[in-house]
Amino acid sequence: MSEHSKDQHKPRVAVVFGGRSGEHAISCVTAANVLQVIDRDKYDVVPVGISTTGHWVLENGDPERLAITDGRLPEVDITAAPVLFGTNRELIVSEPGSVPSTLGEVDVVFPLLHGPFGEDGTLQGLLEMSDMRYVGAGVLASAVGMDKHYMKVVFQAAGLEVTPFVVIRDRDWRRDPETCRKAVDALGYPVFVKPSRGGSSLGVSKVNDLDELDDAVEAARLHDPKVIVEASANDPREIEVGVLGGLDDTDPIASVCGEVVVSGGGHDFYDFETKYLPEGEEYTALSVPADLPEDVTAEIRAKALTAFDAIEAEGLARVDFFYDADGKIIINEINTMPGFTPTSMFPRLWSASGKDYPTVVDHLLTLATSRPTGLR
Ligand SMILES: Nc1ncnc2c1ncn2[C@@H]1O[C@H](COP(=O)(O)OP(=O)(O)O)[C@@H](O)[C@H]1O
Ligand SMILES: [Mg+2]
Repeated sequence: MSEHSKDQHKPRVAVVFGGRSGEHAISCVTAANVLQVIDRDKYDVVPVGISTTGHWVLENGDPERLAITDGRLPEVDITAAPVLFGTNRELIVSEPGSVPSTLGEVDVVFPLLHGPFGEDGTLQGLLEMSDMRYVGAGVLASAVGMDKHYMKVVFQAAGLEVTPFVVIRDRDWRRDPETCRKAVDALGYPVFVKPSRGGSSLGVSKVNDLDELDDAVEAARLHDPKVIVEASANDPREIEVGVLGGLDDTDPIASVCGEVVVSGGGHDFYDFETKYLPEGEEYTALSVPADLPEDVTAEIRAKALTAFDAIEAEGLARVDFFYDADGKIIINEINTMPGFTPTSMFPRLWSASGKDYPTVVDHLLTLATSRPTGLR
């Protein structure tokens, strides 16, 4: 077989990144890394960017441009050729003023998008409509995993402990903020105020008394009209576990536990700065594996698998817990597209569990290419 005809039989992966959410830049950073490790002998790769305005383009995926340089956050190149998915899984280039041309069929999509319009089931729905295979959670799991309110409802039903919470919907806040304030008061301060469908700590505030509440709710509402307010866990340690779908129809597997330690610098929780910006780095340490008693580790890993199955996740997820001062294990959230740069927690958890970054990427693509389309 000639090199050329062999190439034609390689599965085609469209790596989709960027997106309309506040986590656009982080998605670009992730994509730069994933694009570098996908095995080109096995897969043919097409980088597809979604701009902050929601336009799809054929990106070149240049890793240097997609990195965070001198604190500058990267963006999808909006000047690149516009593309869209057509019927029959075809990727179509449609430059204004010229005849649309096809780039051929895509076998699997790797959606590396965080947050709304990417991690929340909307993109997954679009791909289902096109009969396209893709990496990760399906429509329902993505939507539930995005929404801090509904994920808690599902977790509680699966017997997992969550922090007490109050939901403030757009209409509640506009029509009767006083009732909302009273409901929050009943939780006891401090509370955490969050956009229900957010991520990367964007719009999350710790609120110490009623006077600070309105500003925090308004800040969260800049990201999502639906706000969740949670009682604070009691001086918790933050423990995270990676979950991967099992290959060949086996059960999902949990990684070792990792711990996020945030201290000093005026950051009293794991905020955007401590997560991503260079100046935050000195205040954050990821400790992998976490220094925990063996029975606690086993319990947290088991709970991570329960959470993964509770929302019917597929492919991958990172499940985040609070291990509080009273020894309680409280689930904070599940992320169906966790941070995925090589220094992010999820890849580090797997590397400590015997799967390095390229292996995890390959595992995910193998799962996605082998799963059927349609209802499963
Ligand atoms: N109920 C809580 N009790 C204590 N700390 C919290 C609570 N909720 C959030 N935090 C802190 O805020 C951070 C961000 O909140 P999280 O719900 O994980 O939002 P995101 O989805 O943006 O990561 C957590 O990592 C933790 O440091
Ligand atoms: Mg979090």
